[in-house]
Formats: sequence, structure tokens, C-alpha cells
Amino acid sequence: MRTLSGLQALDQRRSVPSLQLGEPGPDEATLLRMLASAVRVPDHGKLVPFRFLRIAGEARHALGAFLAQRAVERDPQAPPQAVDKDRQRFSHAPVVVAVIARLQAGHKVPEQEQLLTAGCVCFALLQAAQACGFGAQWLTAWMAYDPGVARALGLADGERVVGFIHIGTPRQEAPERERPDPAALLSDWTP
Ligand SMILES: Cc1cc2nc3c(=O)[nH]c(=O)nc-3n(C[C@H](O)[C@H](O)[C@H](O)COP(=O)(O)O)c2cc1C
Repeated sequence: MRTLSGLQALDQRRSVPSLQLGEPGPDEATLLRMLASAVRVPDHGKLVPFRFLRIAGEARHALGAFLAQRAVERDPQAPPQAVDKDRQRFSHAPVVVAVIARLQAGHKVPEQEQLLTAGCVCFALLQAAQACGFGAQWLTAWMAYDPGVARALGLADGERVVGFIHIGTPRQEAPERERPDPAALLSDWTP
């Protein structure tokens, strides 16, 4: 594996759309290696306010079937194409890791900070996947916020899906997009 400097790795990160991800996905050892990097996030209070849920193999299709059913429950008028899209969402990339935030209400570390830590995990997992030679994309959509889906995924009170990280082998070169100009975003605070 070619190793990149930290800055090169950050500069080369880009998402690969989940539709363009195929086999092979990371095996158990490789996924655990990625997660070992992903858990090294800033964490106020060392609360570890996150966990991982792997959705792989047949479970992806079972989740897709559930999503299609739930999509119709949410909107009985939903167009069949939209329902089919939901059915297929988890069937492209071989492995999807749901990053689940575990939020402690009333803790001296505000929930926002706990959530940010879980968000950092998603970003670190994208980086780790790319560093291991895979492509990845962070997706949410309605299924990340739907109480029925949360129940089906086995989420407890205080748990939230922060992202579904789709991981696989890119079938084609990942698209690049224009990036923000950092100089235009930087200003100096003056007292
Ligand atoms: C919290 C979060 C949720 C996202 N959810 C979606 C989504 O549901 N659908 C989508 O097309 N892109 C979504 N994205 C954007 C993609 O992850 C990705 O950033 C985008 O495809 C642009 O690629 P890039 O990462 O190379 O800039 C989301 C990003 C974030 C941070």
C-alpha cells in the first residue's frame, strides 16, 4: 500500500458515490483496522459517544426491503421509482457502517459536542477507507432520522444515526468537484 503524508491524504480525500462502489469490500481485519483509526477522534470527557453497526451481505437487502415498506408507510403516494431507490440504497456498496451517536442528555459535555465527536468519526472513517484503498461515501437521507428505521436498527434512547458510511471498491474514478477557497473563508477578528 502506498503511504501518503497526512496532508496528501487530506487533500486527496473525495467521496465515491455509493452507486459506483462494488466488491470487494473490506474484510473483518481491514474494517477493524479502519475503525482503529476512526476512533482516534477528539472526545471531550472521553465519553466515546458513538458505536458502529455493520450492514453487510444479505442484511443490506433485508434493510432495503424494510426501507421500501417504510417509505410507503410514510407516504402512501410515494412514486414506485422512489420506493425502488430506497430498496436499493444499501445494495451497492458491499459494506455499510452506520455510525451511531450515543448522546448523554444532561451531561456537562453538551450533546452538541458529543454529536460532533461522532461526526468526526464519520470523517475519519472516510479517510481510513480511502487510505486502505477503498472508496467511501457518507450518506444519511430520511432513513437516518426516521424513528421506525431507528427501531429496526435497534437504536436505544439517546442514540442517533450520524451517518451511513458506504465502503467498497470504486468501479470508476471518483468525481472531483470544485472546493471552497479557504482564503475567501478566512477573516481576522479585530477587537
Ligand atoms: C452528514 C452528511 C450527510 C450526507 N448525506 C448525503 C445524502 O444523503 N445524499 C448525498 O448524495 N450526499 C450526502 N452527503 C454528501 C456526500 O457525503 C459527499 O460529501 C458528496 O458526495 C460530495 O463528495 P465529497 O465528499 O468528495 O465532497 C452527506 C454529507 C454529510 C456530511
